[in-house]
Amino acid sequence: MTDTVAVVGTGNMGAAMVARLRAHGRPVVVFNRSPDRAAAVAARTGAEVATSAREAAASAGVVLVSLADDAAVVAVYGDLVSGLRPGTVVVETSTVSPQTVRALAAPVRDAGAALLDGPVSGSVPVVERGELTVLVGGDAAALDTARPALDTFASTVLHLGPLGAGATMKLVVNGVVHALNQAVSEALVLAEKAGVDRHAAYGVFTSSAVAAPFVRYKQAAFEDPDGTPVAFRLDLVAKDLALLAELAAAHGARMDQADTNRRLVGEALAAGFADRDISAMAAFLRRSYDSA
Ligand SMILES: NC(=O)c1ccc[n+]([C@@H]2O[C@H](COP(=O)([O-])OP(=O)(O)OC[C@H]3O[C@@H](n4cnc5c(N)ncnc54)[C@H](OP(=O)(O)O)[C@@H]3O)[C@@H](O)[C@H]2O)c1
Repeated sequence: MTDTVAVVGTGNMGAAMVARLRAHGRPVVVFNRSPDRAAAVAARTGAEVATSAREAAASAGVVLVSLADDAAVVAVYGDLVSGLRPGTVVVETSTVSPQTVRALAAPVRDAGAALLDGPVSGSVPVVERGELTVLVGGDAAALDTARPALDTFASTVLHLGPLGAGATMKLVVNGVVHALNQAVSEALVLAEKAGVDRHAAYGVFTSSAVAAPFVRYKQAAFEDPDGTPVAFRLDLVAKDLALLAELAAAHGARMDQADTNRRLVGEALAAGFADRDISAMAAFLRRSYDSA
């Protein structure tokens, strides 16, 4: 089995994964819908560029997929699957619905390969530190094959059950992340309005009972929104919250807080914040006050 890892999707997360794989000496082949983005990642990391998902998959023992949403995943898998070799393991790291992942299992299996769902918790700086958490559903033996590749950027790999269990838990845990993001945004802007310096206020968050990893790694983005690169766009947050609402509806679960957060993110998108970072919910709130 080849040592090469294919990374399909070189967006913010995929590109960061490629850099870690290369830093660990793994041969990597990348494919991205927009070739310029793949070429830029290859130039930075020494990865090879494939001209299709099929070509990328054909050269790899492990294929990591990192795409925006369910539509992107469905659009890419037909071509990707046609390149798979027997024994290859595909890890679907995108945040997508559990049904989408389960529907992809049969074609991957028919190619003699195996599919795992392995969505990730953490963001670009967490990948860069090799401290991502991967939430895995699927076959344990397939995970053994994929694990060395995952270990280049993840410090925690949790095997949660059959295919779909990882995707389910990713939506569940993101309900908490998005609640935390909204709470931090509101609290920070309140502190500023009440006359406390932004950096001093955030320093309290990182030194107090609320100092979760998310609160710590988003410090630069919250304190310096214009000077910090976008790590996780608000349109993808809206996608997560829509998938979470779908999951909750399927199970008859009440999600009052997530519903509120979804409405507020929708307002931010309508105000032109779709391409801004998740932490820009604070900037959106500041702007609402300014225009009130
Ligand atoms: N960023 C984070 O902090 C973070 C954290 C945890 C999980 N995630 C999840 O990880 C996944 C990737 O996130 P990201 O932040 O890396 O997103 P991103 O920077 O927007 O990258 C999205 C990727 O999807 C591709 N894509 C979008 N629509 C497509 C389509 N119809 N057909 C083919 N390719 C398509 C894009 O290709 P182009 O370059 O051609 O547009 C790009 O490669 C998402 O599911 C996200 O929810 C992100």
